[in-house]
Amino acid sequence: ALSARDSLYIVMNFAKEHFKGLLKEHEEGKSIGLSYFHERGFNDRTIEKFELGYALNEWHNLEETALAKGYSAEVLEKSGLVIFKEDQKHYDRFRGRVIFPVHNLAGKIIAFGARILTKEKDQPKYINSPETEIYHKSNVLYGMYQAKNAIRKEDFCFLVEGYTDVISMHQAGIENAVASSGTALTEEQIKLIRRFTENITVLFDGDAAGIKAALRGIDLVLKGGLNVRVLLLPDGDDPDSFSKKRSSTELKTYFQENTKDFISFKIDLYAADASRDPIKKAEAIREIITSISVIPDPIKRSVYIQETSSLLKIQESVLLTELNKILIGER
Ligand code: CTP
Ligand code: MN
Ligand code: MN
Ligand code: MN
Ligand code: MN
Repeated sequence: ALSARDSLYIVMNFAKEHFKGLLKEHEEGKSIGLSYFHERGFNDRTIEKFELGYALNEWHNLEETALAKGYSAEVLEKSGLVIFKEDQKHYDRFRGRVIFPVHNLAGKIIAFGARILTKEKDQPKYINSPETEIYHKSNVLYGMYQAKNAIRKEDFCFLVEGYTDVISMHQAGIENAVASSGTALTEEQIKLIRRFTENITVLFDGDAAGIKAALRGIDLVLKGGLNVRVLLLPDGDDPDSFSKKRSSTELKTYFQENTKDFISFKIDLYAADASRDPIKKAEAIREIITSISVIPDPIKRSVYIQETSSLLKIQESVLLTELNKILIGER
């Protein structure tokens, strides 16, 4: 007999095929959804690789198609595809939006993200599947199924914010990228990356929110025992918009030349002129030592202390005293 989880995988796969079909075959899907993706520069190979789709702007299209194929109302509710309210009221969750299926490591569909096509102020830009028996958001990174081989091969992983960042980078030939999908990174997500590599490059949007998320991400990655580097884009850009303005070669060169280890990133962020301003320098030192203190491996901690010492021209003994204060304070 089918388990409850199996039936969820099956109905999610059905929905994915339905959305894909609408994007490619249906008048509305083609004229609105497919042209949207094409305008964003996604080619058909990319669309196929990520299994992108379209949900018609109707209240019951997915539900009625599914019921006609024998899927139960119960499984449609449990999957989050149909929302049920009191008094039998119910409607499709995803309507009039382009669809980004979320795959698990085996390639099965466990969730969907759906983007609005117009600029309606009262509607969220993205709607996502709720938590279900097969979807635990905090354990999932978007794009991992498509990225895992490249992550292993390159032995590092780009961590970006959004669906379209992963897809655009992939299309530009940078296939080792996954997205936290706009939420704060979790320990489970870091453990997931660790199955493929110990090296993460945080590549967040070049705005204040992106910097804040990057800083939080750095400490979490370090805590998980992984190595972290940071790549900050110019303000106003995200990896998707940035990659659209450049060739694959330019993009790769830019990434190589602008990736910093977390210490240089923090030095540049907190104290562009640290060498001249003692207060800023002290602030930068404290920020860096705080990050170093969360690294579990004492040898790595010592290497980073040496690096900080030489970059900021501070005696190692001073840094070690600060570090030990934090380490002891934590116990
Ligand atoms: N996100 C979300 N719900 C929202 C806004 C954002 O779930 N209302 C998630 C999505 O996974 C999105 C990511 O956060 O991809 C990053 O958000 P943002 O940078 O605003 O969107 P982009 O990915 O840049 O999307 P686009 O380029 O289509 O505008
Ligand atoms: Mn109905
Ligand atoms: Mn953003
Ligand atoms: Mn973005
Ligand atoms: Mn974007």
